[in-house]
Amino acid sequence: MIDTYGRQITYLRLSVTELCNLRCRYCMPEDGICKKRHEEMLTQEEMVTAVRAAAALGVFKLRITGGEPLVKANIVDLCRKAAAVNGIREVCLTTNGTLLPRFAAPLREAGVNRLNISLDTLDVEKFRYITRIGELSDAVAGIEAALACGFDKVKINSVLIGGFNDDEIASLAGLTRRYPVDVRFIELMPMYDSGDFGPEAFIPYTVVTDRLPELEPLPADGGVARLYRLPDSMGNIGLISPVSAHFCADCNRIRITADGKIKPCLHSSDELSIKGQDYDGMLETIRSAILSKPKWHGELSYSARSHANRNMNQIGG
Ligand code: GTP
Ligand code: 5AD
Ligand code: SF4
Repeated sequence: MIDTYGRQITYLRLSVTELCNLRCRYCMPEDGICKKRHEEMLTQEEMVTAVRAAAALGVFKLRITGGEPLVKANIVDLCRKAAAVNGIREVCLTTNGTLLPRFAAPLREAGVNRLNISLDTLDVEKFRYITRIGELSDAVAGIEAALACGFDKVKINSVLIGGFNDDEIASLAGLTRRYPVDVRFIELMPMYDSGDFGPEAFIPYTVVTDRLPELEPLPADGGVARLYRLPDSMGNIGLISPVSAHFCADCNRIRITADGKIKPCLHSSDELSIKGQDYDGMLETIRSAILSKPKWHGELSYSARSHANRNMNQIGG
């Protein structure tokens, strides 16, 4: 389906839970989140119905997000059902990776095509700091488990944080020499409560090209990242610039939160509920959401924070 600004909406990001086994500082508050009542959240059946309705409106790429999708009960079953929906060509999943040693093989078998795995640092202490409770070795074991299972693509997502990991740009990019993965650097987005970070943390993507002059530019592939490659590497480097150079004009996506709200735009407070609706109701609500998609998300900076009124774990990135 085409929205009112001529953008074709083909990509659904479905968040299956707000919960996570980590507590990344840019994503959620320290004490986790106040767990919503079970009745407020979409059931698995409603999630599959929403995917069917979105597919009927022209969505063919599905990304499962969270929170951490792998803490969701029956996640493999959900992925299998979503992959079987008519019209869905590709099921992708974004994860912190720590549970992949257990889940990579069953996810692959269930029909998940691609994985994006978050990893902001290669330093054990810094990993504990940024995730508040995580162990680097679990995330690395997850990446290796994913690579052993033959996914079509594995990407590493590193959120660029000034004063935290800008000294690790070369080593994170160097993962493309160690493993057949793409590494994407993502500008830190100022959410409602990513409050631990001062203005110096918000650095532009150009820091990466400044630090790595050997990066060779590649043609765009239709995704949100600018693409480069290090010589002698096995994967691309992607630079994602939601803050310094937004990509709203090419936006092809809608989001559904775990509590059943369609978000036409990541950074807008507009939400339409599908909770409790049947297939026909969801079809109409998703259609309305696409037609209400704003032209862009408005000013976004340290001093002009996201209007989303939710933290990232309650949206799904
Ligand atoms: P691919 O399918 O591999 O291209 O993945 P993706 O980049 O669409 O998804 P992923 O979950 O890996 O997200 C990477 C980063 O891009 C995260 O920080 C997201 O929050 C951010 N992002 C994804 N979609 C949007 C968007 O529509 N607007 C903005 N501003 N940021 C987005
Ligand atoms: N800014 C940029 N990226 C973020 N992510 C989570 N919170 C933020 C933020 N405030 C990233 C995660 C994950 C992806 C879905 O979103 O690291 O890779
Ligand atoms: Fe969990 Fe991902 Fe948020 Fe980190 S960024 S707390 S891993 S949902």
